[in-house]
Amino acid sequence: MKSLSDCYELINSVKVPCVGFGTWKMPQEIAQNAVKCAINSGYRHIDTAAAYQNEEYVGKGIKDSGISRGEIFLVSKLPNDDHGYENTIKSCENSLKKLGVDYLDSYLIHWPVLDSNIDRLEDDLCDTWRAFEKLYSEGKLRSIGTSNFLQEHIEIIKRNFSTYPMINQVQMHPQNPQEEMIEYCRQNKILPEAWSPLIQGQAFKRELLIDMAKKYRVSVAQLCVRFIVQKGAVPLPKSANPERIKNNADVFSFNISNEDMAEIATLSKFGMIGNPPSVPRTHQVVGF
Ligand SMILES: NC(=O)c1ccc[n+]([C@@H]2O[C@H](COP(=O)([O-])OP(=O)(O)OC[C@H]3O[C@@H](n4cnc5c(N)ncnc54)[C@H](OP(=O)(O)O)[C@@H]3O)[C@@H](O)[C@H]2O)c1
Repeated sequence: MKSLSDCYELINSVKVPCVGFGTWKMPQEIAQNAVKCAINSGYRHIDTAAAYQNEEYVGKGIKDSGISRGEIFLVSKLPNDDHGYENTIKSCENSLKKLGVDYLDSYLIHWPVLDSNIDRLEDDLCDTWRAFEKLYSEGKLRSIGTSNFLQEHIEIIKRNFSTYPMINQVQMHPQNPQEEMIEYCRQNKILPEAWSPLIQGQAFKRELLIDMAKKYRVSVAQLCVRFIVQKGAVPLPKSANPERIKNNADVFSFNISNEDMAEIATLSKFGMIGNPPSVPRTHQVVGF
């Protein structure tokens, strides 16, 4: 990948720009302005979710940017309360309406295991995925995928359907490098995406990253974003600050050596943020 607009190709040939812009914890006009700024800074991939409660403003930000809808890869996610066939169809229509668009470039199941489906996980994921396939066949979704799915959750879909997740968005950063998931995705032709690539701000406290960023003459954020790019996944850095929005995406003029990639991954000793996806979410989790 050599620039922000370079793309990965999904199994159905849909192209996905290699760095996305995250919008969690961005309320209203903050999301609108940040999305506009991100697109005007060159990002072409925007990540939101019904749970972020900002889809309306993300949609406005895209319109304000003046860049045509067809040039943006727009992703939203099914909220936890809306699993199941009928609910999924309604929820997706709602996201389309709020975003002010007639299709999404990708739609993801936000979280696999919920309090409400723990005893009937396979049936629940199958009912939900059937609705994803219908929306995909109608052209409302250009691609369909999952978020926070472990291999065992993706295997449920694989043994019940002919259309598999094309994307799996997971927590991925120096403390949680997700080597096994990346390899599983490679074998199954699934594009891995990395949420919280800056460890939700914790990256800026890690001496190893601070020192290595100095060595490469880049910011800690650029080092983290580049780390994900070199792993072959799509980083989704979030910032509401115009300078940082630009800086975080300027990651194509340096290369992290193999030795330094391995050294960054030693931060895995600090572990992931929060609970793994095998732990059920309570139904309405706002923002994640
Ligand atoms: N699928 C899921 O379950 C899931 C879960 C979490 C996140 N996500 C997606 O992934 C995106 C990114 O994750 P995230 O928002 O959790 O965290 P993140 O991108 O790892 O970190 C964001 C934090 O870093 C700060 N920051 C950004 N650039 C900086 C810089 N150059 N220097 C100093 N501080 C900087 C931001 O503050 P400022 O805004 O003040 O710059 C913010 O506090 C989300 O926005 C969302 O789209 C998905």
